[in-house]
Amino acid sequence: QPIYLKDYQVPAYLIEHTDLRFELAEEETLVRATLQVRRNPACTRTKAALELHGHESVELCRLSIDGEILSERDFSRDDELLCIPAVPSRFTLECVTRIHPQSNTALEGLYKSDGMFCTQCEAEGFRRITFYPDRPDVMSVFRTTVVAERARYPVLLSNGNPVESGDEDDGRHFVTWEDPFPKPAYLFALVAGDLAVLEDSYTTASGRSVKLQIFADSKDLDKLDHAMLSLKRAMQWDEQVYGREYDLDIYMIVAVDFFNMGAMENKGLNIFNTSCVLASPRTTTDAAFQRVEGVVAHEYFHNWSGNRVTCRDWFQLSLKEGFTVFRDSEFSADMNSRTVKRIEDVALLRTAQFAEDAGPMAHPVRPESFIEISNFYTLTVYEKGCEVVRMLHTLLGAELFRKGTDLYFERHDGQAVTTDDFVQAMADVSGRDLTQFKRWYSQAGTPRVEVSDSWDESTGQYRLTFRQSCPATPGQDKKLPFHMPIAYGLISASGDELDAGVLELTDSEQSFTFDGLAERPVPSLLRSFSAPVKLSYPYTDAQLMHLLRHDSDGFNRWDAGQRMTVGLMQSLMVDYRASRELAVPESLIDTWRGLLLDESLDPAMVAHLLRLPSEAYLAELADEIDVEAIHEVREFMVTTLARALQDEWSEAYRRCSDDQAYTADAAACARRSLKNLSLGYLLATGEEVWLALAEEQFNTADNMTDQQAALALVVHSGFRHAGERLLAEFQAQWQHEALVMNQWFSIQASDPWPGALERVQQLQEHPLFDARNPNKLRSVVAAFCAQNAVGFHSADGSGYAYLADWIIQLNKQNPQIASRLLTPLTRWRRYPEAAQGLMRGQLQRVLESGDLSRDVYEVVSKSLA
Ligand code: ARG
Ligand code: ZN
Repeated sequence: QPIYLKDYQVPAYLIEHTDLRFELAEEETLVRATLQVRRNPACTRTKAALELHGHESVELCRLSIDGEILSERDFSRDDELLCIPAVPSRFTLECVTRIHPQSNTALEGLYKSDGMFCTQCEAEGFRRITFYPDRPDVMSVFRTTVVAERARYPVLLSNGNPVESGDEDDGRHFVTWEDPFPKPAYLFALVAGDLAVLEDSYTTASGRSVKLQIFADSKDLDKLDHAMLSLKRAMQWDEQVYGREYDLDIYMIVAVDFFNMGAMENKGLNIFNTSCVLASPRTTTDAAFQRVEGVVAHEYFHNWSGNRVTCRDWFQLSLKEGFTVFRDSEFSADMNSRTVKRIEDVALLRTAQFAEDAGPMAHPVRPESFIEISNFYTLTVYEKGCEVVRMLHTLLGAELFRKGTDLYFERHDGQAVTTDDFVQAMADVSGRDLTQFKRWYSQAGTPRVEVSDSWDESTGQYRLTFRQSCPATPGQDKKLPFHMPIAYGLISASGDELDAGVLELTDSEQSFTFDGLAERPVPSLLRSFSAPVKLSYPYTDAQLMHLLRHDSDGFNRWDAGQRMTVGLMQSLMVDYRASRELAVPESLIDTWRGLLLDESLDPAMVAHLLRLPSEAYLAELADEIDVEAIHEVREFMVTTLARALQDEWSEAYRRCSDDQAYTADAAACARRSLKNLSLGYLLATGEEVWLALAEEQFNTADNMTDQQAALALVVHSGFRHAGERLLAEFQAQWQHEALVMNQWFSIQASDPWPGALERVQQLQEHPLFDARNPNKLRSVVAAFCAQNAVGFHSADGSGYAYLADWIIQLNKQNPQIASRLLTPLTRWRRYPEAAQGLMRGQLQRVLESGDLSRDVYEVVSKSLA
C-alpha cells in the first residue's frame, strides 16, 4: 500500500474558507467544520469525487451540503477516506464529528497533555479531528472558535488573531481566532488549558509591533527567558540575513510535556516539547540551552520557509525542512562559534545520517514512495537536506544565494511547491544549469570520493584526481555522478596557504592541476565539509599533524585530528581481536599534550579535538560492527591518555574552573566543556583524588552543566558506590523537575556497566517513569537501545527481546514512537552472524505480533526484505 510521488494529482476541490467550532469537554469533543468548497480550475479530471480524509477513530455525526443533510447513500467511507461522488462546483459543506482527545495516546490530532488540550497535525493529524482534504496543497483561510469550561481552561488559543470572546452556558467560555493567511490543515493548532505566560514584544524592521507570548505550566514560568531571547534574536536575524519579516500581530509558543517530536511550526501558534523550550541555568545544561535556541529559531524560520511557502506533497518535505535546518544552523553559527557548530552538525550527520543511508530505510532527500509519511521525518530529509541547500549556497556564493531565496519567496508566496521550484529559483538568479545538481534530491546513499595526487618537481605542477561513486541503496542499484563542491586549500611545509578555492566535481573521475608551486603541498580537502560524502585520501600521520597545526579551516583542523585517532583506533581493534597488546604511540600523546597546554586555543575547540570519536561513529565506519572491540579499544584509549596526561588534564581543569558566578556566554560554555572533558579523563585514571574532585563539583556547582557532568562521569566510572550515592542525592534534589529527571534516567540507561538491562527494567518501575510520555521513553528505552551498545547488544539477545517487547506494546499506543525506537534493530545486517540472527528473530516476532500500525509495519517489513 505505498504511495508514489509519480502518482501525484492536483486536488479536484479547493477549500476557500474553513470555519471550525470546538466544544471541548471531559468525555468527548464535538467539532463542527463549515467549509467553503469550490472545484479546482486547474484540475482536468471531469468527474472527480470530493475526497475527504478521516481517521477511523472519528465519529461522523452530521454531514450536509448547502444545508441538505446527506444520507449514508450519498457518500462512501472506508478507514481513510470519505468520498462524495456528486457535488456542485461551489458549495458549503458542514460536518460535525465527535472525537476523544482524552484517550488519544498516539499524540496526533487533538490530545491531552497533563490536563491541557493541544494538537499535532503534521503530517496527517488533522484527519483525526474532522473530515477534510488533509493534504498540504489545499490551503485555506481558517476561523476557529474554541469553547471550554472557563475554570479548567482559562486560556483558549488557535492560529492568527483573537477576534471575539465571551461566555457560553454552564460556566463555559469561548474565544474566536482568525488567521488571514491561507494554510494547509497540517499547520492548524489549538490549545486549551490553565497556563502561565511570559510576554514581550518585538518591533519589526518596518516598524510593526508584534506581541510575543510563551505559555507554560506556572511552575515553569521562570524557565522561559532564554526561549524569548532566542525568539527575538531569530526574528532580527531573519530580517537581516533573508529580508523576512513576521506577518501577524501575535506570535505564540506553548510548552507541552507530551510530544512526539521536538516542536511544531503551526502558524502563529508553535507547540513545543518542554525539552526544546524550557531553560534555566540551575536545571538546564549548556547543550540544552543551545538546543532551545536552535529549535525556537527553526520553528520561527518556518513561518517563511514552510508556512508562507509550503510543500506541494509530503515527498517535498525537505523543501521546508532541509532549508529551515540550513537557516537555523547558520543562525546558531552566527550566535555562537561557527566552527564548533559545524563540527557538531557534521558529527551527527556522519554518525547517524550515514548509518541511515547504509540501512534498510535509506531513501533520497526527496523520497519516491512511502507507506507512512511519519517514518520520513528523518536525518536524511532534515540534515542531509540541509547539506544539499548548503551546497547550493557554496556553489552560488552568499549573494546569489540570497537573490535566489528572494526570488523563491516572491515567486511562490502563498503556494505549495516542490524542491524543483526551489532549485529553479537558484538556477534563474545564477544562470547556472543545476540539472545534475538535482540528483542530490533523487539519489539515495552516501557518495564516496577517493582522492589521489601527483607532483611534478620539474614543472611545479600538482595534480589532484577525484573518483566518485555511490553504493547501491534499496530500489536504486546504479547511481549517476553527483555535482559536488569540494572546498580545498594547499598548504606548504611552513604552513602557508598556497592556494584555496572550490572545485566542482561533476564526473565520476576528474583531475585538477595547479601550476607554479614551489613545493609539494599538503592538500586540505572538503573544507568545512563542503559536501555530504565520505572522502578518502592516503594521508600520513605527519600530514595530518601538519593540517592539525596549520589548516586555516577550523573544521578541517578538527577533522585531521579525527582521521588520526580513528585510524589508530581501527588498527587497535585489529590488535584487540588478535589478542595482541594494545599501545598508544608516544607521538599522539605528545600532540595531545601540546593541544592541552596551548592556552591560545579556544577551549571548546580543544575539547572537541581531544574527545575521542564516539562508539556510534566507529560503528558506522566498520564493515562489520564488533561492539565489544569498539568499546574496549575506546576504554583503553581513554585510560591510557588519562594516565599519560594526568598532570595536563588536572592543569586544564584548574585553568577552566572559574570562581565567578555562572554565565551562559560562548566563552564560559567553552571553558565548561574542556573542564568537564578533563574531569572525565581524570576519573578514568581510577585515582580516588579525582573522585573527590568530581564529588565536590557535584555538590558545589551552581549550574546543571557542571552538576550533571559530574554525575554522569562518576556513574559511568568504576566508582560504583559513589555513583549510587550521587544518583540518590540528585533524585532527592530534582524529583520535581521532569526534564532534569529525564537526564537522571538517561544517564543510568546509557551506563555500559554489566547488568544494564536489569537496571533499565528497574527504572521502568520508578514512579516518575510514564510509558505514555515520549520523553520518558526516550530517556529510558532509547537511551538503553541506542546509546548503550554494550548493554543492548548483550550476546544472549536479551536487549533485542526487550526492545521488541516495547515495540509490540507501543505499536498500538503510539505508532510514531514505536517506529522510531525500532531503529537499532533495523541495522542487523551490520553485525556478526550470531547477532544478526537474534536481531532478525525479534523483528520477525514484531512482524508476527499482528495488527501492526503502518508506521511499524513499514520499518519492520523493509528491514526484513
Ligand atoms: N515540522 C516539525 C519541525 O520540523 C516537525 C513535526 C513533525 N511531526 C510529526 N509528528 N511527524 O519543526
Ligand atoms: Zn522543521
